[in-house]
Amino acid sequence: RGKRAFIAGIADDNGYGWAIAKSLAAAGAEILVGTWVPALNIFETSLRRGKFDDSRKLPDGSLMEIAKVYPLDAVYDTPEDVPESVKTNKRYAGASNWTVKEVAETVKQDFGTIDILVHSLANGPEVIKPLLETSRNGYLAAISASSYSFVSLLKHFVPIMNPGIILFVVDVAGGASVSLTYIASERIIPGYGGGMSSAKAALESDTQVLAFEAGRKHKIRVNTISAGPLGSRAAKAIGFIDMMINYSLENAPVQKELSAEEVGNTAAFLVSPLASAITGAVIYVDNGLNAMGVGV
Ligand code: NAI
Repeated sequence: RGKRAFIAGIADDNGYGWAIAKSLAAAGAEILVGTWVPALNIFETSLRRGKFDDSRKLPDGSLMEIAKVYPLDAVYDTPEDVPESVKTNKRYAGASNWTVKEVAETVKQDFGTIDILVHSLANGPEVIKPLLETSRNGYLAAISASSYSFVSLLKHFVPIMNPGIILFVVDVAGGASVSLTYIASERIIPGYGGGMSSAKAALESDTQVLAFEAGRKHKIRVNTISAGPLGSRAAKAIGFIDMMINYSLENAPVQKELSAEEVGNTAAFLVSPLASAITGAVIYVDNGLNAMGVGV
């Protein structure tokens, strides 16, 4: 059978999550999606009304099918963690079973197992504030939504992920996960504030530790893609995305706009058997901008 992927962090057809879903679907995977609860209604309505049909088109002309959309809020692990104010918030009222543990349980009931876990979500409520002006709550919220959310997803999905089986030195099945990071973790990117740079540093470090732990215990690979700038909804909220896209166009070794599809294709490669020896890695998909020392 084809592989089954759960992609956390899709709420429209502009972001990296959508592009990854498409690349995986084009490669024959079955697509399950986790959508942030407050964005669920509009995403599902738009899907149903055909608003995304143009961008659902795969290279063979068929339309990407999403087998199921799950409501998800990756800052909560279990129902006990959800504060009253969120429980009674009307943006959460219509949905149920959206904590990480419950989503993993529901996916298990619906489909049994998955092969691929994709984390394409981030949130930093104070992202537009410099780190020096970031509050403790803002910093911790960025880490919770953007870094621990991956630890939690992997932890709760690992039990239902098909492990890699090494048969005559060939990796025949192989569970794999991938997340999205940004170079602000390791270089100074003024404007990427609110502890988001810290959150990406944590995500990259955790990629290594989790590669070891999930690799040894479950033969699951863990990688992250350090992506160049894309004008997604999340990036527009930061405010400097057009400037970053232009900076990259001017200064990267390859002077072209980065397409989400290029990141999607890399993700599809990383979770495929073609990448069976790659784990614990940060893979740059940024037209090479990371390699520059100075802009010219
Ligand atoms: P996006 O807006 O398409 O994706 C972010 C998603 O996270 C949204 O769907 C949002 O609803 C979801 N989300 C936020 N908080 C959540 C929560 N608590 N629970 C569940 N979902 C939640 O934007 P984009 O840019 O495609 O982001 C995807 C990933 O790519 C993020 O990790 C981002 O940091 C990373 N990235 C983006 C770059 C860019 O220039 N757009 C560059 C490098 C990395």
